[in-house]
Amino acid sequence: MKAFDFDERLDASSQYEIESILASTGVFSSQEIEMAVELVRENLEKGSQGSGYFFLLARDESDKMAGFTCFGLIPCTIYSYDLYWIAVRSDCQGMGLGRRLCLLTEAQVKKRGGKKIYAETSGRKDYALTRNFYLKMGFQELGRLEDYYAPGDDKVIYGKDI
Ligand SMILES: CC(C)(COP(=O)(O)OP(=O)(O)OC[C@H]1O[C@@H](n2cnc3c(N)ncnc32)[C@H](O)[C@@H]1OP(=O)(O)O)[C@@H](O)C(=O)NCCC(=O)NCCS
Repeated sequence: MKAFDFDERLDASSQYEIESILASTGVFSSQEIEMAVELVRENLEKGSQGSGYFFLLARDESDKMAGFTCFGLIPCTIYSYDLYWIAVRSDCQGMGLGRRLCLLTEAQVKKRGGKKIYAETSGRKDYALTRNFYLKMGFQELGRLEDYYAPGDDKVIYGKDI
């Protein structure tokens, strides 16, 4: 059983580790990965408060990043947060790390006065496990935007009151 530590220490090497975690999952396009890396850069440049992008990182016994979340207050809302990203390195999946990251992120959101957390994903068949993960974490499906990403590729919106 692997042991994990959690922190919020982003540094210059974090973007490469995050890139490598996202690539390891096999579900994200290079364009999506670049978008995530951009959020890391914004955070490094402006800080968490300044950028609005907060990160929670999980590290394995060798201090290598094993998973992360990125979340933030949705602009123009008073207590609604978006879980922009959650990902666990492929060799660490199915060990409860995603659950811990999600619960710790919810605790962070709550600490900051957040009352609602939202996540969105694709309605495609290959995202079924991700959708199942949100349901297992107590999120509810709140809406579905048909053919949002592409024909036959809906956007599914999940939310949870915390
Ligand atoms: C989704 C993801 C974050 C889950 O992390 P994880 O560490 O594998 O999940 P956990 O081991 O904590 O499992 C949490 C729950 O989700 C369910 N789950 C997770 N992976 C599953 C899988 N491959 N098959 C079926 N159920 C799964 C588990 O049954 C578990 O519920 P339980 O505790 O009641 O049994 C991870 O698989 C991942 O990074 N996937 C690719 C990236 C992604 O889709 N991110 C979300 C969109 S940004």
